[in-house]
Amino acid sequence: MNLMPRIAVYPGSFDPPTLGHLSVLERGLHLFDRVIVAVARNSEKKSLFTTQERMEMLRESLAGLDPRQVEVDSFDGLLVDYARSRKATALLRGLRATADFEYEFQMAMVNRHMEGGLQSVFLMTEYQWLYISSSIVREIASYGADVRAMVPAPVADRLEKKFAGRP
Ligand code: PNS
Repeated sequence: MNLMPRIAVYPGSFDPPTLGHLSVLERGLHLFDRVIVAVARNSEKKSLFTTQERMEMLRESLAGLDPRQVEVDSFDGLLVDYARSRKATALLRGLRATADFEYEFQMAMVNRHMEGGLQSVFLMTEYQWLYISSSIVREIASYGADVRAMVPAPVADRLEKKFAGRP
């Protein structure tokens, strides 16, 4: 019997986390014993939120989930190196429409080339999140529009604060 826990890393920029991300994570938890949500630190330069803020938003948004099953962390450098250091055997990613496919396919191939034992697992988004992305959320929120139907409440609060008083 194999008693090794099945650990997946769910990597991303999460700038900010959306309800689409949460949906992928929740469904991933049915497949894995533990999912590590890993915020890419090297995406900080061009991001709206700092790594710390993105991790806080994720922790606040995931407060209802079992902490033995979900962890929020950040990583620098190559994803495959981080996954190996965390003893993960899978990378979890969400797929929306065809637009995501080429990028995800390339990333999965490169990661497999570097670390053959690491499986990329893709979960299709639920249809209501098909059109949502972090960049769309940032764009809409920057004009002061309501994004509460697209992001967890703690994220909506932070976006409001971030853009408050900006022209
Ligand atoms: O949410 P994003 O921006 O689509 O996430 C992309 C991310 C962070 C998963 C990807 O850029 C990544 O894995 N970066 C770490 C560097 C790396 O390993 N690059 C090689 C794979 S393309």
